Amino acid sequence: METLLNIDIKETIDKLEDLQTLSREEFIELLACEDDYLFERARFTAQKIYGNQIFMRGLIEFTSYCKNDCFYCGLRAGNVNAQRYRLSKQQILECCEKGHALGFRTFVLQGGEDPFYTDDIMVEIVSEIRAAHGDCAITLSIGERSFESYERLFKAGADRYLLRHETANEQHYALLHPQKMSCANRKKCLYELKEIGYQVGCGFMVGSPNQTLDNIVDDLFFIKDLKPQMVGIGPFLPHSDTPFKNDTPGNLRLTLNILAILRLLQPNLLIPATTALGTLDFQGRELGILAGANVVMPNLSPVDVRSKYLLYDNKICTGDEAAECVACMQRRIQSIGYEIVVSRGDWRGYTS
Ligand code: 5AD
Ligand code: FES
Repeated sequence: METLLNIDIKETIDKLEDLQTLSREEFIELLACEDDYLFERARFTAQKIYGNQIFMRGLIEFTSYCKNDCFYCGLRAGNVNAQRYRLSKQQILECCEKGHALGFRTFVLQGGEDPFYTDDIMVEIVSEIRAAHGDCAITLSIGERSFESYERLFKAGADRYLLRHETANEQHYALLHPQKMSCANRKKCLYELKEIGYQVGCGFMVGSPNQTLDNIVDDLFFIKDLKPQMVGIGPFLPHSDTPFKNDTPGNLRLTLNILAILRLLQPNLLIPATTALGTLDFQGRELGILAGANVVMPNLSPVDVRSKYLLYDNKICTGDEAAECVACMQRRIQSIGYEIVVSRGDWRGYTS
């Protein structure tokens, strides 16, 4: 009986690899997969396109202020215990300078939704990074903004934009966010970003409170429709100053299964092995790469602000200098037979 079941699941994995899609029932079956054949096929698919190369992005967490109040996030406006900081343009440029010397060719400016950084201020920051580092990609991850704002930032030199959709299911979205935020607007932002010409990344947490396997399949179908260049997946991890402080962290195996499914669903996708995955398990990021991920995002933020950007408890890498993080990451990647490359790490595929 067990062997029969194994044959069944292998057929479903092969079917996903061949057709790049499945029915809802088949996806649900694969989410529960316990056979490492899923990881083998995902790894093979990643290697066909990206070889054994892993791309590195330098993450600059430039503001811990946020006007939103997402129930899961440690930076939520309602968290009076959060330590808030903002980096100046000069500090951000210094991070990029340091990162460039360390081999980074992509800078990811990430922050809470902080009204201090108006379009004028952001345009100035992006333009100056663009002028200083013509050989680099600039990625923004600063939440929901207007079409006009996204367009101005694109014209100023930003190439990519990360905006996790968090969950594609409207009812589930409402259980994770205050009423004034909406799933529809999130999705609208993502389609607008694509229309403007950004390379776009969406994504979600695995095991966020009240998430069902059906919700995850909704996410997969949404991704199939959006066709982003990148998808960021990490386990939900509780933060002690949020309404979800007593909820259970996301499951490692389920997270890895989703990474592998994404690789087979859209073979050329850029998939990071996230910090949250590394926090959930000491070897989480390595396991992520062995399940088909091909991007890592070491932290480039100044060390004195690191421990103030806490989305969840026990976040790793909060005390290390950027150079230490890079060296640690290089060791980890090499230990599993891969290598980090000095490159913008562009997406290999269609651009529309
Ligand atoms: N656990 C894991 N991931 C989280 N994020 C926010 N809060 C948490 C948490 N408690 C993720 C969200 C957000 C990204 C920047 O971090 O998906 O989009
Ligand atoms: Fe900051 Fe949700 S609390 S984006």
